[in-house]
Amino acid sequence: MSEAADATTSQNPDLHQPTRDELVEALRVRFGGDGAPTFDAVNPTILRQLQHRSVRRFSDRDVTDDELRAILTAAQAASTSSNQHSWSVIVVRDQARKEQLKPLIGNQPFIDKAPVLLFWIADLHRSAALAERAEQPFVGGALLEATLVAFIDAALAAQNAAVAAESLGLGITYIGGARNHPEETAAALALPSHAAVAFGMTLGWPSPTDRAKIRPRPLPEVVVHQEQYDADVLPGLDAYAERINGFFADYGREFDWESYITEHFADYADFYGRERLRDALRNLGLPSN
Ligand SMILES: Cc1cc2nc3c(=O)[nH]c(=O)nc-3n(C[C@H](O)[C@H](O)[C@H](O)COP(=O)(O)O)c2cc1C
Repeated sequence: MSEAADATTSQNPDLHQPTRDELVEALRVRFGGDGAPTFDAVNPTILRQLQHRSVRRFSDRDVTDDELRAILTAAQAASTSSNQHSWSVIVVRDQARKEQLKPLIGNQPFIDKAPVLLFWIADLHRSAALAERAEQPFVGGALLEATLVAFIDAALAAQNAAVAAESLGLGITYIGGARNHPEETAAALALPSHAAVAFGMTLGWPSPTDRAKIRPRPLPEVVVHQEQYDADVLPGLDAYAERINGFFADYGREFDWESYITEHFADYADFYGRERLRDALRNLGLPSN
């Protein structure tokens, strides 16, 4: 079968105009029964986004080149700061390379099980190359603003890819561990100067045995503010903590979200080397001044 024909069969039959009941159920699963938002402006895209869950267990089904091209072309359509295109993506399919990269990016067991491992790159290399050819200084490229623009561009492109992938029925998980060893990971991926890995992403078809459920989110009023920021955050967080702790209890896992957050920020232990990110960025040609 040609790749194009294969892509047709990979269209997601779940993508249809949602019924009212499907929307209500998706909102209940995401936000709980108490205070879940409701609205009428729903379509297949929004329902699919509401149903997002990170996928860490994959079936044997491969991701075709055609599917990958669709996903990465959708990524390219994302907005990009000042039309600068300050991002790149590196596609890793080679099993030996995945295994080589795995210990550098957090050693999480599912990383080399995914058929495709993507590295989203904050990338000022092309702008620097144009500056060099034009014999222009690149002083703006040394600013924190320039680094932020590149990381933001990479994130926007990646999330476009995530939505595209999920619309086809594929699953993704972002890999923040890809910032644990920035210089070594950059070297393994042959990154040029002025470029750093923002994060990785596993991509594959969800395994039928995957038990991962849709994770609760805080109620909208916790993150959506009207006109000005409402800093009275604790009651909404307490309600969320109760729900997310209950979610993990259903898996038989004792979890205290509040302690998880406070311990995360209490010291550097949970940062796995990322606490030296500014030095690493400087070494990679992104001084971030
Ligand atoms: C930038 C970023 C980095 C992440 N890094 C990891 C990671 O290294 N390993 C992992 O298992 N999940 C990772 N995640 C996934 C989050 O844990 C997940 O999105 C969150 O728990 C909510 O779950 P959900 O995506 O299933 O809704 C990352 C997510 C983001 C946005």
